[in-house]
Amino acid sequence: MINENIKDLIDKAIKARKNAYAPYSKYKVGAALLTASGKIYTGCNIENSAYSPTVCAERTAFFKAVSEGEKDFLKMALVCGYDDNIKLCTPCGVCLQVMAEFCKEDFEIITAVNYDEYKIYKFKDLLPYAFNLK
Ligand code: THU
Repeated sequence: MINENIKDLIDKAIKARKNAYAPYSKYKVGAALLTASGKIYTGCNIENSAYSPTVCAERTAFFKAVSEGEKDFLKMALVCGYDDNIKLCTPCGVCLQVMAEFCKEDFEIITAVNYDEYKIYKFKDLLPYAFNLK
């Protein structure tokens, strides 16, 4: 049985995906990030004609949250795909490295098509060897 907290994150990621600005790839992503204080920050991918300034949905959500003073994160939902063809996905390496900066090993990444089709990953399983300054 899906918990309400995950359901809410999936809903918010679906909603955020509607704002994706992806005229070049046409691939739209929505993200919803839950903080330890219970707040949810959303994000979408925002592309650019010069390509490299493009930012992913996950980083949009993280940077919104961190810029508002948040530093403690529990989980994130992700909804990805072309048009109505939503598929399960995993964050790109750059976004995982941003997560490495702010998230603990048990941070959860929920990739979802809808409430019935979703998968939960632990951050440590997606990026076991993150870069850090040691
Ligand atoms: N994208 C994301 O928003 N998140 C990811 O984890 C992978 C890729 C975006 C970037 C670009 O706008 C489009 O998806 C295709 O790569």
